[in-house]
Amino acid sequence: MPLPTSHEPFLHDVPSIHRRYLATFDVARVPHRFTDVLVVGSGIAGLSAALAASSRKDLSVIVLAKRSLEESATRYAQGGIAAVLRPQVTGDSVDQHVADSLAGAAGLADENVVRSTLSEGVERVRQLIALGAGFDRDESGEPRLTREGAHSLPRILHRGDTTGQEIERALVTAIGEQSNVLLLPDTFAIDLLGVEGAVTGVLTWTANGEVEAIWARQTVLATGGAGRLYRETTNPAIATGDGLAMAFRAGATLSDLEFVQFHPTTLYVAGADRFLITEAIRGEGGVLRDSKGRAFMKDLHALGDLAPRDIVSRSILRVMEKTGENRVWLDLSGIEPQRVHDRFPRIREICRGFGIDIPRQPIPVRPSAHYSIGGVATDIDARTDLPGLLAAGEVACTALHGANRLGSNSLLEGLVFGDRAGATAARACDNTPRPAPVSTRDAPGQGDGVRNDRAIESGHGDVPGRVLNLDDLLTSVKSLMWYRVGVERDGDGLRGALEQLRSWMAYPMGSDFRDPRSWCLQNVLQTAYLVTVSALRREESRGVHYRSDHPERDDDHWRRHLTIARQDFPR
Ligand code: FUM
Repeated sequence: MPLPTSHEPFLHDVPSIHRRYLATFDVARVPHRFTDVLVVGSGIAGLSAALAASSRKDLSVIVLAKRSLEESATRYAQGGIAAVLRPQVTGDSVDQHVADSLAGAAGLADENVVRSTLSEGVERVRQLIALGAGFDRDESGEPRLTREGAHSLPRILHRGDTTGQEIERALVTAIGEQSNVLLLPDTFAIDLLGVEGAVTGVLTWTANGEVEAIWARQTVLATGGAGRLYRETTNPAIATGDGLAMAFRAGATLSDLEFVQFHPTTLYVAGADRFLITEAIRGEGGVLRDSKGRAFMKDLHALGDLAPRDIVSRSILRVMEKTGENRVWLDLSGIEPQRVHDRFPRIREICRGFGIDIPRQPIPVRPSAHYSIGGVATDIDARTDLPGLLAAGEVACTALHGANRLGSNSLLEGLVFGDRAGATAARACDNTPRPAPVSTRDAPGQGDGVRNDRAIESGHGDVPGRVLNLDDLLTSVKSLMWYRVGVERDGDGLRGALEQLRSWMAYPMGSDFRDPRSWCLQNVLQTAYLVTVSALRREESRGVHYRSDHPERDDDHWRRHLTIARQDFPR
């Protein structure tokens, strides 16, 4: 049975919160395209949606990618994809996978969604293999399986430590072979277009640097997450919460945004981009140690180093506080060296680049933002509450993960819900008329305090008083989110963060920009605000949401989803 949902009005006055579009255009003056199904995003969810929709050869499909088609969070996934493929060998079952996922979810998953996703996932992974995705195999030629945190048995398919790259490769190849799919890389989705609450396409900034409207009968949002809201993150640069912010502006309901998952082990070398060190390395025998060499996880949880991620992340922070150091150590000396070389070649190469010779030397690691569990609320067929809009993958919230996600369940979710989104969209096209183009200029809320009389240059402009230093503001937001809305939060810190965000939002959210970097900043600000307000509302600790001022789980009051929508804010 679905859990109750709290949908409370807000009393905050938030700068330009009712603004409908970040950019305005006149319908008579911009180029247009029409398609049946428009997919925004090219990770596992987006490409699975596009493949499912394009199996109907009477339909046209467009896929937009912010950068290259291959560039998505999927590509950086190391660990793998969880599915019960060899129950007879491992003694596993879908029931056990469901039980592990529900136990991890801390009372907030929807069991129907969990069961249907994990059982359908087995078939979808077989299809992915048939499509050409090559996973590591054992001597018998069957997929080799590994374990990750909170999975009770080995059920993770992988390809060395570059599983996501292999999946992305297979899907990009497959989508390229579909004659009814148009791929548009380097295309930034500015906003969802809409008429009377229904979504009718996307306003884009093209690779040629101009605004173009793409009208669609059905739009699938698969833009990924928002790790780049945080100073420390495993996410690629594209993960700026664009889909969440766009859906919010269009009026969709977002759910569970307070649940941001922090991955315990990211390579920490001062100044270097944070690089994920897969949990699978602990599945193979890697051990976390403090600077005195003490293996601290075994005393803190029955699953030791493979305890749920939130527990390992908090434990690492505690050790760092105690030692005054900015990292702990991941010791691989208990794993046979050849195994490390064969199984984790990419990690080895990256570490070697920083002078760390694994497994001889330990890896300096610390937690960082990894996955947005919350997102645009969808039903079991990937429909949002806006007609014409579906969502799948990290941008969506299906209630599969509840308050805490098990590693490698997310690629599975993207695969299953991407497929459902594409199939649902294709069916819905039969009953959706071709949308009529409309201008964004006259949308309700558009004029609210927006300085849309002129375009403002950012970062590189030379008009005094009209230049905004994007990098400076972005760095400040990311630091604020890390320290106040991070692994541990408390009411005072969250209230302070909201005040700070409100003041930072005032100028940029009320301005009309003309470049993707600035629109990304606006999306970061808006998404950071929504995550922070959600974290403040949930006055308990559950799963990945840890409130030091409310350290206990409180089922009586909080075993429910918290939703947020533009309509909740006062006009
Ligand atoms: O540790 C990892 O490889 C991460 C996997 C995941 O987040 O699903």
